[in-house]
Amino acid sequence: MEEKTKKKTTVKRTTTSSERSFKKYAKDKTVILETVNINKTFGEKESEVKALCDVSLKIYEGELLVILGSSGSGKSTLLNMLGGMSVPDGGAILFNNEDISKYNDRNLTSFRKKEIGFIFQSFNLINELTAKENVSLTSDMNSQEIESLFRKLGLAGKLDNYPHQLSGGEQQRVSIARALAKKPDILLCDEPTGALDYESGKQILILLEDLVRKQGRTIVLVTHTQEIARMADRVIRMRSGRIIEEYINNKIESAAKIEW
Ligand SMILES: Nc1ncnc2c1ncn2[C@@H]1O[C@H](COP(=O)(O)OP(=O)(O)O)[C@@H](O)[C@H]1O
Ligand SMILES: [Mg+2]
Repeated sequence: MEEKTKKKTTVKRTTTSSERSFKKYAKDKTVILETVNINKTFGEKESEVKALCDVSLKIYEGELLVILGSSGSGKSTLLNMLGGMSVPDGGAILFNNEDISKYNDRNLTSFRKKEIGFIFQSFNLINELTAKENVSLTSDMNSQEIESLFRKLGLAGKLDNYPHQLSGGEQQRVSIARALAKKPDILLCDEPTGALDYESGKQILILLEDLVRKQGRTIVLVTHTQEIARMADRVIRMRSGRIIEEYINNKIESAAKIEW
């Protein structure tokens, strides 16, 4: 497998990130999730789209990884596979030394439920449930724990609001609460600020940053906004279903200081 990975890697590693800094970066880190040469094609014949081509990617525990790329470059397809929401046509996705891409539906659902917190651009809250019910539905947290989590996320007093009674930023916070309440190993965020106004988006980025920097969580953040990559530990850039660049960010900027 190692041989294959080496041969197929055509990723440009930029000067801000010499081979040495990659080694240094990875040295004390544990790989939590890894894709090995995964592929995905949608459609057939004329309508065929190669959404992912030989994507090999390691995700390290405790890092903030930004996946950058324009619309249609394959970011969501990749993120969905990392989260066990869809399976590749070929290649492997390794979690705890197991290939989750070979799991049956039951094991895949269990992986998704237990290990992954997903945050979507469009929040994906259930409109008929209150904020608190949206969170309790998918977690074992009791009332007090949920209340405490809401307070930490700046949602005190919003427990009984329905999604339509919350601003976009608040809805995204509830979706983050829902993700965190499952105590996942890894948070996958697909354009989490994409549906928000600038200020609310910024607050969400600051929140995600805190989760990594203060709580040691692992976050993969997908975005098409170049500037957002400045807050990352490491950046992967995609184009046409391939990783075209990877770099370690030697000058991490705080989310509060980023403008886009
Ligand atoms: N379910 C699907 N059926 C057909 N084509 C799809 C499907 N999902 C994604 N694609 C195509 O795969 C490519 C990558 O899509 P996507 O991963 O959503 O990109 P991104 O998230 O970077 O915008 C696009 O050309 C898109 O149209
Ligand atoms: Mg997308």
